[in-house]
Amino acid sequence: MASTLITSMSQLVTCDGTDDDGLGIRPDAALIVEDERIAWIGARSAAPAADTQVDVDGRCVLPAFVDSHTHLIFAGDRSAEFTARMSGQAYDGGGIDVTVAATREASDDELRELLQLRLTRARVQGSATIEIKSGYGLDIDTEARMLRLAREVTDETTFLGAHVVPANTDRRDYLDEVTGPMLAACAPHARWVDVFCEPNSPHAFTEDESREVLQAGRAAGLDLRVHGNQLGYGPGVQLACELGAASVDHCTYLSQRDIDALADCKDQTTATFLPGVEFSTHEPYPDARRLIDAGASVALASDCNPGTCYSSAMPFMIQLAVRELKMTIAEAVLAATVGGARALRRDDIGRIAVGRRAHVAVLDAPSIEHLAYQIGMPLVSGLTP
Ligand code: NIG
Ligand code: FE
Repeated sequence: MASTLITSMSQLVTCDGTDDDGLGIRPDAALIVEDERIAWIGARSAAPAADTQVDVDGRCVLPAFVDSHTHLIFAGDRSAEFTARMSGQAYDGGGIDVTVAATREASDDELRELLQLRLTRARVQGSATIEIKSGYGLDIDTEARMLRLAREVTDETTFLGAHVVPANTDRRDYLDEVTGPMLAACAPHARWVDVFCEPNSPHAFTEDESREVLQAGRAAGLDLRVHGNQLGYGPGVQLACELGAASVDHCTYLSQRDIDALADCKDQTTATFLPGVEFSTHEPYPDARRLIDAGASVALASDCNPGTCYSSAMPFMIQLAVRELKMTIAEAVLAATVGGARALRRDDIGRIAVGRRAHVAVLDAPSIEHLAYQIGMPLVSGLTP
């Protein structure tokens, strides 16, 4: 078993919840990584010997980010849609068909190459665990293909056949397909099922349709996630809580009833903020403060996708969370690490503790505050493994 001793950290940010703000900062700690697990944490002076030693020279060390919501596998270009939106056009999900057409046309190797490039970009920004959804195939073959390719790079794969009703397709027929043969073809490659529950978009799904999709997914052995309350007030949050989904994502428009429900079901369901979407669509930012102060479980993710947010940069999401969602730096960092882990029902990642996976990021800065303070800077200088 090869072991590595990491020393000379300015701060070890464990995110283990042991102090007031939950960051569990240890000022004079050393760390031993053994076979992709954290084997030992303690004072530098007490560190046992290891095979190799890495001196991080006064940098800050924290858990790698857990990006619990991405659509990283797709082909095509929707930059023109972004440009139109910046001059006032609203987002309604209609552009998804453009990506669907391009993704159906792309070969496995083309999709693999695009995915690898995007994964590299996510990793250099500090993400080690990345959830990836289908949803740009919307036919049986392409949905299954997307998930098979995503499975090559992550265990956190999500079947999103119910992203939108594809163009020129009868809603009822499509729902029958999604909950029948498409689900059967996709379930073997997926851990999760998701639905774009959004009555405010003519392309997405109503409450009843979403319930049908989620229940069928659960019967096929998948756990549940929901895109909800993105474009207006709606049923997504209530449905996620009712069905015990692991996460309800976007949460841009929340009523008091939604906030109460999320606080009540915090042990089951995490509310995941995706502020890169508000940044890229001109929707208002969610009232994260109210939700956090009510006691809900929250996460922060990128939603990297070609329509509403073409960024996988978790440091940027932390900067938006602090600047626009009024989260403290500690809340934002925790939401991007342990929060993401909770949204994926994982307890082996998102914090630095003995026995957990050694997904560790090194920050080219003396303290965790710099992650929010140095905007858009390439601060992540290392990532294990
Ligand atoms: O999470 N809202 C639905 N799905 C994506 C956007 C998909 C797209 O426009 O391509 C999202 O924002
Ligand atoms: Fe999404």
